[in-house]
Amino acid sequence: MKLIVANLKMTKDYKASLSWASFLMKNLKSQRGVIVCPSALCLSEFVDIFKGSKIEIGAQDVSGYKSEAVTGDVSAKMLKSLGVNYAIVGHSERRRLYGLSSEQVKNKIERCLENDMLPIVCLSGKSEDKKGLRNELSEILLVTDQKIILAYEPESAIGSGKHMDPNLADKTISYIKSQAKKILGYTPKVVYGGSVCKDNIHEFLQKKHIDGLLIGTAAKEVEEFCQLCESRG
Ligand code: PGA
Repeated sequence: MKLIVANLKMTKDYKASLSWASFLMKNLKSQRGVIVCPSALCLSEFVDIFKGSKIEIGAQDVSGYKSEAVTGDVSAKMLKSLGVNYAIVGHSERRRLYGLSSEQVKNKIERCLENDMLPIVCLSGKSEDKKGLRNELSEILLVTDQKIILAYEPESAIGSGKHMDPNLADKTISYIKSQAKKILGYTPKVVYGGSVCKDNIHEFLQKKHIDGLLIGTAAKEVEEFCQLCESRG
């Protein structure tokens, strides 16, 4: 089953987040491989709402620091203690707005792995050529046999309504996998993100190398997100 990751960003206040989650819990039949990433505001409630289901919870970010003296950050240890097993790491919005470096992305991955969390590592979305992708992977990935998930989201496709050509996305992801395997020693799952919606999801789902989708805008309305998950069959 292909993965579907919902990135809720800052789209909802507390109450609306909880209604979103309750609707999904009640209505989603195809729960396997669905990971929902609400704001830190309601992670704890999401863990409770989805208890006993197959739906997994992820944070939208995690601190790269080991020290406890980091005001405003949330550590992997704290997330894990709540029952959060996934975290999006290095999303291009955070890279752009906070000037996140490859070193910082790598630190976040390390903190996740130390705490037995599975990082969903976003590439910067700037590199499209092989050399750029290769360099980026060698900068952020570490040698580990612990599982990580990679996300390939071209910057121009995020939130723009202009998704990448699914064939090209498939080809690029195939290359990312082959390069990541050289560093990790195993082939990680790689998901595509960037303006995935009901009109194009089928094409992406059919692609051999694309292991799943990271969805922002089209996850905002829970009925639509439900349909996207069910469309995996
Ligand atoms: P989008 O966002 O689906 O709105 O393009 C994807 C993302 O930011 O991860």
